[in-house]
Amino acid sequence: MTALKDANVFVTGGSRGIGKALVEELYARGAGKVYATARDPRTVTHPDAVPVALEVTDPASVAAAAAQAQDVTVLINNAGAAVGASFLDSPVDDVRREFETNFYGPLLLTRAFVPVIERNGGGHLLNVHSVLSWLALGGSYSASKAALWSQTNSLRLELQPRGIAVTGLHVGYVDTDLAAGVDAPKSAPRDVAALALDGVETGAYEVLGDDITRQVKAGLAGDLAGLYPQLTK
Ligand SMILES: NC(=O)c1ccc[n+]([C@@H]2O[C@H](COP(=O)([O-])OP(=O)(O)OC[C@H]3O[C@@H](n4cnc5c(N)ncnc54)[C@H](OP(=O)(O)O)[C@@H]3O)[C@@H](O)[C@H]2O)c1
Repeated sequence: MTALKDANVFVTGGSRGIGKALVEELYARGAGKVYATARDPRTVTHPDAVPVALEVTDPASVAAAAAQAQDVTVLINNAGAAVGASFLDSPVDDVRREFETNFYGPLLLTRAFVPVIERNGGGHLLNVHSVLSWLALGGSYSASKAALWSQTNSLRLELQPRGIAVTGLHVGYVDTDLAAGVDAPKSAPRDVAALALDGVETGAYEVLGDDITRQVKAGLAGDLAGLYPQLTK
């Protein structure tokens, strides 16, 4: 369990979408200082947030960002991109780019911040996955989020003895730029942020953000045709 009141928190992708909602909700819960990253830090508009320039695929950018935030005890790996490359038809570089952002990016951030969090007495890591970690409808996006889910599960085992708890967030469509082209029910970023931070404060291993995510997770135990009815048409 990690108290967010007075905590110093680092949120990647904190200028818009779910990350912006996380920043707002963190301050509503009494966080001490919230670092909010963007590739262009001028886009961070929260009046209290500390803007930090960050490109998650660039090790030098990650190192520079971590050097600016040595008082952090909670890292939120929220930044992500949805290229959704087709495994057969898209350039392989598109698949690699998605893994660089969604898998290696959080890995670089976690490696940079674990020593910081340890020095500050322990804390928490929240990684933002997706319902598509468990449902392969998103091509390379699904694969990158499945790989991140596995990374999170391994990190939880490695970090527990080092005083750092780990929560993974899985959620279906959320009303942000990333899902702008999708015509389907979407959760509000504010609701998702609140659920995710409840998970941090209660020490949940996983947060399931909506009904579709709960249904898909339950479906993992069944026959694959249950998750992929198109196989039997
Ligand atoms: N929206 C959904 O339906 C949905 C569902 C499940 C999971 N998610 C996950 O939720 C997280 C947040 O997404 P969102 O919906 O809030 O999308 P969004 O509004 O499009 O925001 C994406 C964020 O990620 C940052 N980002 C992307 N690539 C980056 C890079 N290479 N380096 C640094 N920052 C980068 C962006 O920063 P800039 O401002 O610098 O561009 C932006 O802040 C992502 O991990 C996404 O996969 C979203």
